[in-house]
Amino acid sequence: MTGAAGGIGRAIALELAAQGWAVAACDLEGAEATAELVRERGGEAMGLAWDVRDAEAAREAHARAEAGLGPVEAVVANAAIVDRIAPAEKVSEESWRGELDVNLTGAFLSLQPALAGMRERGRGRVVAISSTAATDGLAGQAAYAASKAGLLGLVRTLALELAPDGVTVNAVLPGMVETEKVAAMPAEVRERALAQVPAGRFAAVEEIAAVVAFLCSDPAAYVTGTWIPVDGGIGLSGLTLGRKR
Ligand SMILES: NC(=O)c1ccc[n+]([C@@H]2O[C@H](COP(=O)([O-])OP(=O)(O)OC[C@H]3O[C@@H](n4cnc5c(N)ncnc54)[C@H](O)[C@@H]3O)[C@@H](O)[C@H]2O)c1
Repeated sequence: MTGAAGGIGRAIALELAAQGWAVAACDLEGAEATAELVRERGGEAMGLAWDVRDAEAAREAHARAEAGLGPVEAVVANAAIVDRIAPAEKVSEESWRGELDVNLTGAFLSLQPALAGMRERGRGRVVAISSTAATDGLAGQAAYAASKAGLLGLVRTLALELAPDGVTVNAVLPGMVETEKVAAMPAEVRERALAQVPAGRFAAVEEIAAVVAFLCSDPAAYVTGTWIPVDGGIGLSGLTLGRKR
């Protein structure tokens, strides 16, 4: 799984390990710390440092994971960046390409080396971490939202290509998650965001990880080509005819 040193990524790694997966924790840096955390809790893990934008590095990481842990039976493409928050007319080409490169192309390059083996073995799981920005839009984050929406097209297409071979491909769409970065947002920004969440709170990282682990599990074998928002109801209509929200 990629982005394993991040807030949500670390939680996913821990949950997958708790469910019995041997986890190849991948990130630019900090992956080994996540792997160590998994091992401290009695799980099996290795840390791999590489950049998801690098196709050759992705192939090498898969080879090392297979040598160390066995066949790659699931890929969780979770690494992503937000480069800039600004109105679309102020977004530079470099910034646009940068976000697409990590969030969309990086996800594809991360999962692609696993597909042939999954097809051969007749089983496999792919989960892409998208965002509610994919379906609802996110003002000031055109590239991010486009990259996350791109993942949904990728997921549906891969699901079609791989369903006959027992491989499922899905996306999870977190809303606002209580990561360190979200906790560090200015209070006024947090409050404005919170006002949009019907559940009245941000998600715990474990609540995202639990859905990812479900999609990777055997009982999820018939769930493919779809996405699961984990967002406390963000995007539901705020229209009310009777009571105040
Ligand atoms: N935090 C939220 O509220 C939220 C909401 C919706 C979706 N998401 C999505 O959840 C996922 C995890 O987000 P997070 O909040 O844990 O973010 P995070 O920044 O803590 O983690 C992202 C990780 O990706 C890694 N990464 C970035 N560029 C990379 C590259 N080129 N190669 C390899 N690794 C790279 C980073 O080093 C980092 O550890 C992301 O896909 C994000 O878009 C998060």
